[in-house]
Amino acid sequence: MQSRHPLPARFFHWALAPLGIALVVSGLYITRPPRSGGSMRAVRTIHSLSAFLFTAGFAARMYYGVLRREWRMIIPEPRDILASPGFLKYLLYLSPREPHFRKYNPGQKFLYSFWTLLAMVMLPLGYCLYAPKLFARPVKWLGGLNRVRSLLYHLSLLTAATIAGHIYLALTSSIGKLKSMFTGYYTRGS
Ligand code: HEM
Repeated sequence: MQSRHPLPARFFHWALAPLGIALVVSGLYITRPPRSGGSMRAVRTIHSLSAFLFTAGFAARMYYGVLRREWRMIIPEPRDILASPGFLKYLLYLSPREPHFRKYNPGQKFLYSFWTLLAMVMLPLGYCLYAPKLFARPVKWLGGLNRVRSLLYHLSLLTAATIAGHIYLALTSSIGKLKSMFTGYYTRGS
């Protein structure tokens, strides 16, 4: 058995995952609330609270990741692009065995890097909507509040779709790797 996810990484994963889901769901609710009923005030409170907690957690996760030089595991390299056809074949059931990767497969690397960039773009956009007077300059530069709102909405749809894909693959690809997100340990082949 080898350690795959140290305790702080697991803590950050399980703290940020529900916050990320809450942010996307409450954000989409706020964009198009139901015509009757619903509690806009409560949802806005949940949304801003999740945003503050997610920002703090994300900053701490980045700090921890930089200390551990995690970008080496997450940023896709040319060999990941070369390995992508073999990996895609496996994903599409055209090959029975998953090619061996050091830790994450090319899909995970692209996704985790993409999410990091998304958070760096979406959090500032969200703060522009939260305090439009304070951020009047960037809002003007981006083409006005409606443009910022529309950009954030479309990025939220992309986030929702990729989170759904991540959860589907996490629950179906390897019980051993799923367990390792709780216990930290992984036995190869499980
Ligand atoms: C029920 C929901 C979720 C489940 C079951 C789940 C499961 C997992 C598992 C099993 C891994 C480890 C994969 C491996 O070792 O190869 C992982 C990694 C990861 N997940 Fe999730 N996940 C969930 C939700 C989320 C959400 C909502 C996000 C983002 C907002 C997220 C972000 C990540 C990231 C960035 C990693 C990389 C590992 C790390 O933090 O070092 N996950 N997830």
